[in-house]
Amino acid sequence: MPDPASPAVSMETLVALCKRRGFIFPSSEIYGGINGFFDFGPLGAELKKNIRDCWWNDMVRRRDDIVGIETSIIMHPKVWEASGHVAGFTDPLVDCKVSKQRYRADQLFFAPVVVDGQTVGYVSALESEDTAGALQEAAESLKRKRAIQGRLGPVAPRDMTEAGPEEIALIPSPATGEPGSLTPPRSFNMMFQTNVGALSDASSVAYLRPETAQGMFVDFKSVVDTGRVKLPFGIAQIGRSFRNEITPRNFIFRSREFEQMEMEYFIHEDADWEKCHREWINWCRDWLLSIGLPESHLSEYNHPREKLAFYSRGTTDIMFRYPFGIQELWGIAARGDYDLKQHEKHSGVPQAIFDEATKKKITPHVIEPAVGVDRIFLAVLCAGYAEEDVKDEKGGVERRTVLRLSPRIAPVKVAVFPLLKNKPELVARAQELHARLKRKYAVFYDESGAIGRRYRRQDEIGTPWCVTIDFETIEKDGSFTLRERDSMQQRRMGEAELFSLLEEKVY
Ligand code: GAP
Repeated sequence: MPDPASPAVSMETLVALCKRRGFIFPSSEIYGGINGFFDFGPLGAELKKNIRDCWWNDMVRRRDDIVGIETSIIMHPKVWEASGHVAGFTDPLVDCKVSKQRYRADQLFFAPVVVDGQTVGYVSALESEDTAGALQEAAESLKRKRAIQGRLGPVAPRDMTEAGPEEIALIPSPATGEPGSLTPPRSFNMMFQTNVGALSDASSVAYLRPETAQGMFVDFKSVVDTGRVKLPFGIAQIGRSFRNEITPRNFIFRSREFEQMEMEYFIHEDADWEKCHREWINWCRDWLLSIGLPESHLSEYNHPREKLAFYSRGTTDIMFRYPFGIQELWGIAARGDYDLKQHEKHSGVPQAIFDEATKKKITPHVIEPAVGVDRIFLAVLCAGYAEEDVKDEKGGVERRTVLRLSPRIAPVKVAVFPLLKNKPELVARAQELHARLKRKYAVFYDESGAIGRRYRRQDEIGTPWCVTIDFETIEKDGSFTLRERDSMQQRRMGEAELFSLLEEKVY
């Protein structure tokens, strides 16, 4: 388990580890990269697949009330009109006309600089852990530079959506430091557009989906008509989503192409939706614990009623303490019957179903837990990363980097080493065990370097167990040394015991 008391790892350290060990690379790096897009290397692809598989197994396969589907990324453009995304999936955008930089207006903060009760200028700063602190510093610097005498008042930060028309021209652009180049905020639709077919005109416009959820609503009737589902039941999907985020940031936390795991849980219109909502919040929280996130890093945020979308009855986010602040990890929304009703209206196809219990036609209501695979990926790395002083083989102290990943999601479950690589009998036995293990698990064979070095390499990528084949293995009962990543303790065990340990921990 990650140590909740351990200091937060810096993002620079994590990004460097991800690059060094092949978890994540910038997309198209040899061409200079493309902002907001990432590639997952060999270990990253394994870790991501394990997160997806755990979710799919627990959410779909191990439940009798949820089925899984896979829908297309490009759907009929009317889907996005009905869902409200064409009209309303927007972020407020501010341009800097000089630098050509673009900012999300709600992430760009400003404040008047007030000296002895008089406004003497404006300062701006991008949202950070300490936006007010950054603005106060900028205000002090402005006062110093212009040699203004008098008492500087505390700054009162506002974001650009709150700027008055007369203030816009006075607020400095963060890119140039000078006022006069920022535009008033305007709505920017975050859906990526494309054209389907040979013609590139208005009639062929389509969108890359900004969420997987609409696939479940649009296929609702098909699932009901073909599956043996009855209320309450869920439809789940894992897949890529695309958002033209104005400011992708914090590594993979907010990117332009990402993966979502969403489930729409359909309940009777008269059902106790609050109870169901709470049950799903608890389910999501327990699931995050089951893949190794520490309880101490999780919290809940209830969206205030006045800020909810008009159709939403309640939304609770499970928040995670990332190094850059406490941020949304998983949103659990009660969406009423809004989506099915909208699709009924726009397609003309009735979406009500016959409810056996009440012998009535009803339109079900929905509870929707929606999470991003990439955000979970980042959370497990942040919580699992540690650097610690440990004893080396000669009794000295050395620093080790360790990723405490749950065996459920660790990219490599077991590493197998022969004690010495120049002893064919050890090598042969280690390779045999490696071959048997890899039929079922992701395992790694390593014969190069001292055993201590091999342990360190595995610690850094989160491998929970290392097995060393030594002379006792050959000469005695076939047992080997099993070394545990977190405790670094070693004990002898046989092959049957190793397989049952894996069976118990990797599920
Ligand atoms: N269907 C509802 C929906 O899509 P959302 O809060 O916009 O709701 C759900 O997204 C989850 O998807 C978020 O909680 C987050 O985990 C993930 N997510 C959203 N935008 C993302 C982005 N730009 N990059 C990475 N993950 C993102």
